[in-house]
Formats: sequence, structure tokens, C-alpha cells
Amino acid sequence: MTLQFKPNETFRSDFAYGKSDADLLRFPFPFPEDAYMYSVNIEPHVRGGPTAAFAHVFDIDEHYVAECRERALVLAEDPKRCQVLPHMEMAEWDTLELIMESLAADYPDHFSLTKAGDLWTWVNRPLGIQQSFTFGEAHTLPYGPFEYITRQAQGDFTLQDQRDDNLYVDGGMVTTQADWSLEFNIGMTFHEWHGPVPLAHEKGVFDRALKYLLRLQYGRPVRRLNWTITINPRLDTSPENYPVWGPDRTTVTSENVGEKVHLRVELQTLFRLPRSNAILFGIRCYLASVADLARVPKWRRRLHRVLRDLHPEIQAYKGLPRYRQMVLDHLAPFDDGAPTSPGI
Ligand code: HEM
Repeated sequence: MTLQFKPNETFRSDFAYGKSDADLLRFPFPFPEDAYMYSVNIEPHVRGGPTAAFAHVFDIDEHYVAECRERALVLAEDPKRCQVLPHMEMAEWDTLELIMESLAADYPDHFSLTKAGDLWTWVNRPLGIQQSFTFGEAHTLPYGPFEYITRQAQGDFTLQDQRDDNLYVDGGMVTTQADWSLEFNIGMTFHEWHGPVPLAHEKGVFDRALKYLLRLQYGRPVRRLNWTITINPRLDTSPENYPVWGPDRTTVTSENVGEKVHLRVELQTLFRLPRSNAILFGIRCYLASVADLARVPKWRRRLHRVLRDLHPEIQAYKGLPRYRQMVLDHLAPFDDGAPTSPGI
């Protein structure tokens, strides 16, 4: 597969970001029906799905090079966006192995991994990297193994340790997050870090999801989609940087709503790791403006209906109230009321 990277894209200041037709059609649109409510929407992470974004273990797209640069910028400003507690060192190596082997197998034109016993050589052509190192010896890499490999991957990652019938978020690389903080959450349990989410606790969503994950098996990864709304194609919407992006919400007008308001979708993947028994959680973020989504008739009708009928507590949690009506007014003329078929 040939990927044309767009290395000059930016996710801040001038927001030089766009979507080709092919990129739009691979967007993991998150609504299989016209209404949305929290659920345990977990399915096996097999190759293939409704769009090409589901075809690989870790999806790489035209934004890869620019997203890796954006991550480096965030880390230079705030190194605490990557933290791993000391007892997770084995999970760091598990992660490095999983990501290197998957990228090399799925994108042989761009990545390769060769092994001579514990001496490994990694080649990342899009980023111009060639690195030999000894697996298991962190001093042979320029960063810790988890930071090293997640600097070269799209999307955020967290590491969960499993003990006392619970999961603890004991590490992460979190630079493209939807308003939550690794620095604040590190060391928390599954229910603690989900504390702010409305409705889902009472519905038993988190009890069931935790039970499911505690039994996650090696070699059988799972995935789910999550979504929110972001103003501008901005990846770093962290609490740490709220003063930078929070005011963006006041800039939406009925003239610019289509271009400014973006549906932000997270393709989340969960892998049991072989040596550490930890769980790697990948949060791969995709952005598409309302104007881009309106190019697809089924998606524009459905987005209109989902946002129109969304539970008020979920609207508030996702920060929608200030501009939701403008999005609805923009999309309503596209919604002819025709029934949509199930699925994406
Ligand atoms: C939201 C982390 C797995 C369902 C969140 C938030 C975090 C998070 C940090 C934001 C909470 C806040 O507002 O501060 C994680 C991690 C997981 C994980 C590290 C890895 C084990 C799951 C699973 C489910 C789930 C398996 C399945 C039901 C949700 C839901 C929300 C949420 C429904 C609210 C999202 C929204 O409305 O935007 N998660 N989560 N999470 N999580 Fe998870």
C-alpha cells in the first residue's frame, strides 16, 4: 500500500490540516444507528471493519509524519505527558515488541525489524530512523522503550497493570487526549479514572467492561470506538493546556461552524501483553470537520440526529452546549428525514 504523507500539516496555530477524499472515506464514523448512548461496545480487534481504518493492528495514515512531529512538540513543552511507573518496565518492552512487529508486518515498505538474538535493528523510513539496540537493555535506546516506540506511533497509549482484580493506569504516552490528564490519573483504578463520566456508572457499563478486560487473552485484542467534539483540528486538548484551547469554543459562528467543529473519534484497542500480563490501551484519534462529514449523505443525516437527541448530561460532559445549536442548524437542511440503514 502506498501512503502519501503530508509532513507539513499542523494541529495548532495555523491548523494546516485537510482531508483527501480517500482519507475521509476511511474515517471510522462511530454511529451505527441514529441515536447514541454509552454501552460496552467492545468487539474483537480483527483485520477489517466498516472502513480501511480497521484493516491493520495499528493504523497508519497520511497524517503519520505530522502527528509524530506534533507529539515531539508537546513532549518538549511538557515531558510529563509520557510517564511509566518503575514496575512496568517489562510492559514497556512488550509494547515496543508489539508495535515494531505489527508495523513491520503491516507496512513493509515503511518499517522493518531484524533480529539476531537480542540484537535488534529497527528501520522507520518515513521518520528517517535506523536504530540497533539490545532487547531488554534500556540504555541501548535514546529513550525508555515505551517512550521510544510511542514517539513513532499515531495516537495515545496507556499501560494498565492488573492486580487485586483491578486495572491500574501505571503508564502512558498521552499527548493527543480529549481533556484528561495522565499526570492526574496515573496510579488510579479503572473506576477511579472513569469517575467523571456521567450515566455509565449507574448503567453498570464500567462494572461489565472491567470484568471483560480482566479476562482479556494474549493474542485476542479487542477494540471499541469513542467520540467527542473538538473545535479546530487540534490534537492536544489536554487539561494542562486548557487556557490554549478552551477559548476556541467561543469562536464558533454560524458562518464557520462547518469548518471549525470537528468530530473526534478514538479507535481504542486493548492488547494483553505476553511477559508482563499488563494491558496496552491504544487511543488512535481521527478528526473530521462537520463540512467534510457533510460530504457523505448517510453520515450527515446521522450526525444531525445523534447530536439533536443526545442526552443532556452527555452533551454537558462533552462540552457541546455552547455551539451545539449552530451545528444542528448547519446540518438540519441536509436531513430529509429518510430512514437510514443500520451500520456505518
Ligand atoms: C472515558 C480511560 C477503557 C468507556 C474515559 C476517560 C479516560 C478513560 C481517561 C476520560 C475520563 C474523564 O473525563 O476524565 C480509559 C482507559 C481504558 C479505558 C485507560 C483502558 C483500560 C474503557 C472501556 C470502556 C470505556 C473498555 C467500555 C465501556 C468509557 C466511556 C467514557 C470513557 C463511555 C466517556 C467518553 C465520552 O463520553 O467522551 N476513559 N478507558 N473505557 N471511557 Fe474509558
